[in-house]
Amino acid sequence: MKYSRTIMSLSPSATLQLSAKAKELKRSGRDIVSLTAGQPDFPTPAPIAEAGIKAILEGKTCYTPSTGILELREAVAESYSIRRSMKWTPANVVVSCGAKHNLANLIRAAVNPGDKVLLPRPYWVSYPEMVKASGGIPVLPEICIDPEEILKAAEQGAVGVLLNYPSNPSGYVPSADEIRNIADAIADTDMWVISDDIYEDLVYIEGAAPHILDFRPELSSRTAVVSGVSKTYAMTGWRIGYSLANTEWSKLTGIFQAHSTSNPCSISQWAALAAVEGKADKEKNEMYSSFRNRRDLICSILSEVEGLQFERPEGAFYVFPRLPAEQDTAAFCSELLEEEGLAVIPGSAFGAEGFIRLSFAASDDDIREGVNRLNRFLRRRYTL
Ligand SMILES: Cc1ncc(COP(=O)(O)O)c(C=O)c1O
Repeated sequence: MKYSRTIMSLSPSATLQLSAKAKELKRSGRDIVSLTAGQPDFPTPAPIAEAGIKAILEGKTCYTPSTGILELREAVAESYSIRRSMKWTPANVVVSCGAKHNLANLIRAAVNPGDKVLLPRPYWVSYPEMVKASGGIPVLPEICIDPEEILKAAEQGAVGVLLNYPSNPSGYVPSADEIRNIADAIADTDMWVISDDIYEDLVYIEGAAPHILDFRPELSSRTAVVSGVSKTYAMTGWRIGYSLANTEWSKLTGIFQAHSTSNPCSISQWAALAAVEGKADKEKNEMYSSFRNRRDLICSILSEVEGLQFERPEGAFYVFPRLPAEQDTAAFCSELLEEEGLAVIPGSAFGAEGFIRLSFAASDDDIREGVNRLNRFLRRRYTL
């Protein structure tokens, strides 16, 4: 049988693969510490879980409109209109099976075969594969985006750019000046933007993270904002994300979704509505405080490890140190797992060789033990 050349050209998700490998080793009895998690290590808050149970008991278990129930689209439109000082309506909103699904659909609706799409490095692991799956060509500039790169990519024919702040893998949150410059550069081009804001509520600076729409509201006509409940409300398994885009882009993603998955799970949508309406804000704030404390903990102990360089993450739950002199981080990570039983993700998965990603969505004990093991491994490897 012949398979699709496009799909055969895609790489498996390195992050999911490594987490699975760590779990398998643990099941076989090995003492494994995993700092790979891309998800909160908390249960979904009770008020949200109860809303899901209620939906089941009330029989809200049938197909819904394929872009999501009106109640949830209304709540998302209202909440983001306030957050970004814009006017969005339910016609701008598509609810999908996780933010990943929104991203894939939006890219599918915007990319034609051969289109170039700018993906600042380090990028989230799925972006290049999503672009390629739509026949597009990822353009990968040097690490960290600057306005010059945006203008250069546009001159070379790039049609769109993906932004992700706070960043997975680095937790980086650009300053207001940096975001203003990025927004100004994009405004000088015709590029569309997908702003993946999935970590927008896990920001450790004072106030909210600056956003391109704060500086250039007119970009909303060609910017899709993507977010969801997975990370903020510990709901990764419920699979609910949403996008806000112009009505045409939303309509097209909705049509594509209608012919692929139809609606996301009806029960999850009612649970997500409880989250968006603020029914679990107390629990959300508690989880936020834990992540903030763990960020402080991991930064303080990592700073004692000789040979690592890192920037203190101001968002998400990842830290992204640079290794002393490593050309093959995938090999580094598999030796680290074999020899020390510590699972972390290689920077190569994010287009950033020489770095590793450590998640601090883990207990204090695992964070301490994980950094200990990393330290021991580094000292042996580089005779530090
Ligand atoms: C940057 C980024 N975008 C999107 C997603 C996908 O989120 P969801 O679980 O809602 O599909 C993730 C999940 O790891 C992520 O890290």
